[in-house]
Amino acid sequence: MNPVALAPDIYRISANIGSRDLFEGIWPIPNGVSLNSYLVKGRDKTALIDLVKDWEGAADTVSRQLKTLGIGIQEIDYLILNHMEPDHTGWLQQMKQQNPRMQILCTKKAVPLVEAFYGITDSVRAVAGGEQLDLGGKQLQFFDAPNIHWPETMVTYEASTGILFSCDAFGSFGQVHEAVFDDQLSELEHKFFEEETLRYYANIVSSFSRFVERAIDSLSSLNISMIAPSHGVIWRKNPGKIVADYQRLASYMQGPAEAEVTVVWSSMYGNTEAMVDAVTSGVEAAGVPVHIHRVPQDHVSFVLASAWRSSGIIAGMPTYEYKMFPPMYAVLDVLERSRVMNRRAFRFGSYGWSGGAQKQFDEFTASMKWKCQDPVEFQGAPSKEDRDRAFSQARTLAEEILAWKESVKS
Ligand SMILES: Cc1cc2nc3c(=O)[nH]c(=O)nc-3n(C[C@H](O)[C@H](O)[C@H](O)COP(=O)(O)O)c2cc1C
Ligand SMILES: [Fe+2]
Ligand SMILES: [Fe+2]
Repeated sequence: MNPVALAPDIYRISANIGSRDLFEGIWPIPNGVSLNSYLVKGRDKTALIDLVKDWEGAADTVSRQLKTLGIGIQEIDYLILNHMEPDHTGWLQQMKQQNPRMQILCTKKAVPLVEAFYGITDSVRAVAGGEQLDLGGKQLQFFDAPNIHWPETMVTYEASTGILFSCDAFGSFGQVHEAVFDDQLSELEHKFFEEETLRYYANIVSSFSRFVERAIDSLSSLNISMIAPSHGVIWRKNPGKIVADYQRLASYMQGPAEAEVTVVWSSMYGNTEAMVDAVTSGVEAAGVPVHIHRVPQDHVSFVLASAWRSSGIIAGMPTYEYKMFPPMYAVLDVLERSRVMNRRAFRFGSYGWSGGAQKQFDEFTASMKWKCQDPVEFQGAPSKEDRDRAFSQARTLAEEILAWKESVKS
């Protein structure tokens, strides 16, 4: 991979990570992820914005790309750390050893984290929100962006070109190859990154949606010509698109999300499973797209992405030891942490003797402000009447969602 020029003397230095590891130790990345650093060369000083983790050779890739540009590690005057998460700082110690004189700039809240994670205390300087750094012809400016998605996060803006180095904000999963800028993506590639952005957002950013809205608001006075995130493609033709996408994704937290339904189900012996068809047919009868996930077979990362985009959630699970079936409980716990609020929902599921899952599900939905229809619960195997009821409730739920979306539009 070669460095890519964003503007004269501003380059993307990037590494693609493959698909074997889980991101953050939890989220699968079947299409990989890119780690982007940015080099800004002024007349007098040189800065590197964000780093990589030494992950699948990423550190070597970065050194090699810098060398291609004729820049040695020793020539970096400033290392700007927008965010302390190790995917953007993991290589810090090794880099510092090679270049002890380099100044590390970060927010005040990041300073103790630089020490805690890497034992580095010298040449670390906190920058204040709005502070500027003159590199000679290139002017960096720093803005706090707290909780996207750690408290110490900031973004960096280069005033002469209007490039915003946004770190995790406006990022996505998915490796980036020849097409680096939004205007180089085919329609298919745009679709690919839309899906990868959704899952990245749902998995990593969703619970901080309020902070995303705040940051977008607070940066709105800047004249942004290009958005260069630390994961994914660079937006130079239409930076407004990724901002609008993030705004839309943030709005899903309180709902309505899209006029879509997620059916997430689990079953031990096939009794709950025997209802899945009826439920999905009911949603489809209303003309509403449905995403179907079985747990624990489907990874929660994908269930969460579907749930985030869906205004309706139908959960199928049996009772297990007087409570919800444990893999479903685990999924709902993730939806709670990720703040999948205000959905239209109901549960279907089987029990053997006295049930119990519904009570726990009701407690969960009340705390998540989900508006629920009656459950379709049945003892043992579902009857034809149970199946008919599940079909018609699913259709009603889907119709309600269409009306909900319509009411928000008007
Ligand atoms: C380990 C285990 C624990 C169960 N606990 C309960 C329970 O506490 N209350 C209940 O009514 N049924 C309980 N059941 C019965 C199941 O809910 C019942 O078999 C149901 O039909 C399973 O649905 P499925 O075929 O979709 O897996 C339990 C079953 C198993 C295997
Ligand atoms: Fe992060
Ligand atoms: Fe990141």
